[in-house]
Amino acid sequence: MDAPMHTSRPSIFKPPKTSHGHRNNYSPPTLSMSNMSKRKPVLVSFASLSSESSSSELQKPQIELEFIGPKVGNDGSYPVDRARAVSGEKLLRTIMADNKIELYATYGKVMNCGGGGSCGTCIVEILHGKDILNERTDAELRYLKKKPKSWRLACQTIVGNKENSGKVVVQRIPQWKK
Ligand code: FES
Repeated sequence: MDAPMHTSRPSIFKPPKTSHGHRNNYSPPTLSMSNMSKRKPVLVSFASLSSESSSSELQKPQIELEFIGPKVGNDGSYPVDRARAVSGEKLLRTIMADNKIELYATYGKVMNCGGGGSCGTCIVEILHGKDILNERTDAELRYLKKKPKSWRLACQTIVGNKENSGKVVVQRIPQWKK
């Protein structure tokens, strides 16, 4: 006599339905649930991409910038912020914004024109390195006509001339030092 046939079948896993009644592309677990806790997260790194772009940037002439604060700090010295930029590629205002360095005095913080050269509030003084900046623009000639020659509008000032590296030292909010 033949052995009785085993009729019980393993239960078939049915993927859950979405709220729209369609099935997701869903892979059922193949092993016991305890394996789930042994899965390790996969880290994807983009470091090689960023290092490639930064190395090509570093091959271009660079400008070192120092920004002197207008008010003496608790230690009795003027605060200094530092930044670096590729020569001739950015406006001073943009570099300061990228590095979170305060540009405007009280009025300019709320009433500036956003870099359009039509408010005259983004004033800085160039203490060192004016030779590697562009000439004063028409907007600067208008707003800074009666101001010291070393004053510039940061939204009109291109940092570097693409060919030379160098150093630029900027006095922030020079009107507070008068
Ligand atoms: S931000 Fe208005 S003139 Fe520079």
